[in-house]
Amino acid sequence: MCSIIGYLGNSSAAPLLVDGLGRMEYRGYDSVGIATLNDGKLLIKKGVGKVAQVSATLNLKEMIGEVGIGHTRWATHGAVTVTNAHPHFGCKVGVVVVHNGIIENYHVLKEELVKQGHVFKSETDSEVIAHLLEHYWSLKNDAKEAMINTCNRLIGSFAFVAVFDDSTLCGARYDEPLIVGITNDGYFVSSDVLGFLKYTDNAIFLDNRDIVMLKGNTLSLFDFDGRDVVRIPTKVAKELGDTDKGLYAHYTLKEIHEQKNTINKSIQQNKESVEKFCNLLKGGKDVFITGSGTSYHSALLAKYILSRYSKLRVEAIMSSEFQYSSELLDKNSVLIAISQSGETADVLQSVKKAKEKGATVLSIVNVSTSSLARLSDCSLEVKCGPEVGVAATKSFTSQIAVLYYVADTIGSNFTGITTDMAELSTAVEETLRLETRIAEVAKEVKNAKDIYILGRSIHLPICLEGALKIKELAYIHAEGMAAGEMKHGPLALIDKNSVVVVLNPNDSTYTDTVSNASVLKSRGAKVISITSKCDPTYDYCIAIPSIRESLLPFVEIIPLQLLAYFLALYNNIDPDYPRNLAKSVTVK
Ligand code: AGP
Repeated sequence: MCSIIGYLGNSSAAPLLVDGLGRMEYRGYDSVGIATLNDGKLLIKKGVGKVAQVSATLNLKEMIGEVGIGHTRWATHGAVTVTNAHPHFGCKVGVVVVHNGIIENYHVLKEELVKQGHVFKSETDSEVIAHLLEHYWSLKNDAKEAMINTCNRLIGSFAFVAVFDDSTLCGARYDEPLIVGITNDGYFVSSDVLGFLKYTDNAIFLDNRDIVMLKGNTLSLFDFDGRDVVRIPTKVAKELGDTDKGLYAHYTLKEIHEQKNTINKSIQQNKESVEKFCNLLKGGKDVFITGSGTSYHSALLAKYILSRYSKLRVEAIMSSEFQYSSELLDKNSVLIAISQSGETADVLQSVKKAKEKGATVLSIVNVSTSSLARLSDCSLEVKCGPEVGVAATKSFTSQIAVLYYVADTIGSNFTGITTDMAELSTAVEETLRLETRIAEVAKEVKNAKDIYILGRSIHLPICLEGALKIKELAYIHAEGMAAGEMKHGPLALIDKNSVVVVLNPNDSTYTDTVSNASVLKSRGAKVISITSKCDPTYDYCIAIPSIRESLLPFVEIIPLQLLAYFLALYNNIDPDYPRNLAKSVTVK
């Protein structure tokens, strides 16, 4: 959940590294650091804060040298301080390293290195890599050997890039992404193609246990045993690099608005891939569906949709819990893994578990070049374009659009995603026009300490997703709940300070949900309804368009995303970079 980048070539490294880190900032934004090699000397600058801010304060772009590395951090071991920021080096500055991942055996390695006289400066697990590299480098001044020996000592997940003071740039990968970008006059090594896509779309995706070594014009690839490996460069879709904010104040707002096009784009699937996906899915004895955070909420909604429209019995399990509930999985099972990034460690771990058991793995991803897509037997791309805001918005509606499309391809009952797409697009546009109304409502409840979001049936996953948005964007405690469950206990929490949002469209759940809401109203709660039929019970109504029942989740989540966005603004929070979070969670 950090981003790492390296450059070696004929251009000045620092501006390229800073630019690449800025594009990958979604992976972490606690602190930033750059190292460049100039005249055989490694120079390091690092600071706490976001890329633009640290770069301006420390003049990062002016660092001299045509080889260098950079890092943005999402702290796992050690507080957010300059000392803990990367790059790290050993006792002397002969080799510097940036790391993404977790070194599980760092205590043991550190103890051993300290006994040999190494002095550690930071609280990070990553610093052991720097000392190990230094140790092996000092023995023979052989970068290849230093890399191989170091990699073989590490347990955990890692991608790291190192610069040796003889101008060698190396990268190694184990369970964390690392990609080489090849330009006309140099090389990048980066956590994400976004780090270099502005300069080249020619990329080599490293596999686990791959090491890349770059010196002058030469690129060599070998594994942790020193054996040469061959990886064929691939062309990366250029649109992945389109990460401009445009005229919007925040990426989050831009991405919410993009939903007027992205939902439609997501169902423009390659027919053969969908057929293959559906055939594998229908062939399964048991179907499990997994994801984390927002992607888990897509999985929950898919459970309703696939059972209702495709008559499939599906079990949804959140990825971080999957390993504890996978006893029933075998070679006749199918796992659908959902992920925007395709790099979430919990999701990848679930997939590995399923593969160990011989199950078929299907996936729904936004990043088609991701580890998840490459590990799957069949993968469908959600095609919503790069999502920069840490809070998932357009990727959620795109994931569910693809799942609806799959349900329709299999089922005899139809969700309406294809037949009613024009109507849905109009309804999404109309919902987006509710922005001013939602901002007004957000202002009324901006000081809430707790917000409950209630709904029934297919609206329940939307309640959970809405609550997640409010927690992460506005730092307000929010809970999504089945409307009928309130009376079984949580009702005790309700008083005149409570704020409740009810998903109450005019559908088969309407009457029961209004009754649940009136119970809360009579206990003093302020009740906001997202509805196509306003009832006098409600203090505020946000009037969504009427649309076919199965498609309502698409128009219900948008007001909740906007509510969370405006709650963030009224509480002076930058919605694009919520505290403590990173977009791509590559640690368990
Ligand atoms: C969503 O707003 C969150 N930032 C987070 O829950 C996210 O959905 C989760 O980490 C899963 O990410 P993925 O879809 O890339 O796997």
